[in-house]
Amino acid sequence: MKKTNIYGHRGAMGTHPENTLLSFQAALEQGADGVELDIQVTKDGELVVIHDDTVDRTTDGTGYVHDYSLHKLKALSAGCRFNHFPEYEPSWDQERIPTLQEVLCFLAPFGTEANIELKPHLAKHKGIERRVLETVQAWGSQTKIIYSSFHMPMLLRLKQLNNTANIAWLLNINLPLAADYMSCFQFESLHVDRKILLTEGNAFEQEGLLSVIRAWTVNQDQEIQQLLAKGVGTIMTDYPSRAIALRDGMI
Ligand code: G3P
Ligand code: CA
Repeated sequence: MKKTNIYGHRGAMGTHPENTLLSFQAALEQGADGVELDIQVTKDGELVVIHDDTVDRTTDGTGYVHDYSLHKLKALSAGCRFNHFPEYEPSWDQERIPTLQEVLCFLAPFGTEANIELKPHLAKHKGIERRVLETVQAWGSQTKIIYSSFHMPMLLRLKQLNNTANIAWLLNINLPLAADYMSCFQFESLHVDRKILLTEGNAFEQEGLLSVIRAWTVNQDQEIQQLLAKGVGTIMTDYPSRAIALRDGMI
């Protein structure tokens, strides 16, 4: 059975400020095979790496990302709200929301895979797919990039623009005939909610697809072990070091 890859969800968000360079660095240091990240668009059209469409939960600011220029966004701390984390250090207060370009440049020397999730509301930004592809082409170097979204039209437009792009459809439902969808739309993978994959008799398992599927977001040891035993291709987790230790039989 092929070794399961471990991806750090928003970096290593269980222990570090999510979607920051600090978090991606932690995931790399812990040995993650890849990282997952989310993008949003600023008022002046810059692609930035942050999960929510507002800055309220993860920074010391308030309001929608799309109402901030990149310059104004960069004034916010993306680390100070995580001062309750055991590994917190005052230097985290200086952490900023990174641009997609900054994250790609950071990852490029390491060969770590990167999954860029495009939230469905980004579809209202005309040409977003081209912008993302151009940014990856300019700054992604040899990094294997996987583009994922719940929103099928954006995935199809990405594929139309670049036939070799690795595309994964995000799913939180069981999908009978999943293999047919994969082959018809030339998807590299399906990113499936762990709850579906842990359900007996799910279509992905029945169709023998588990080895190409990425499971999100798996944080409980028992669930990680169950999915490792099933031979899932990739496990995305907030705690990459823990999942790696379980995979490698260290704990
Ligand atoms: O990529 C799957 C997972 O990240 C989706 O959930 O809310 O963490 O973006 P969320
Ligand atoms: Ca995500």
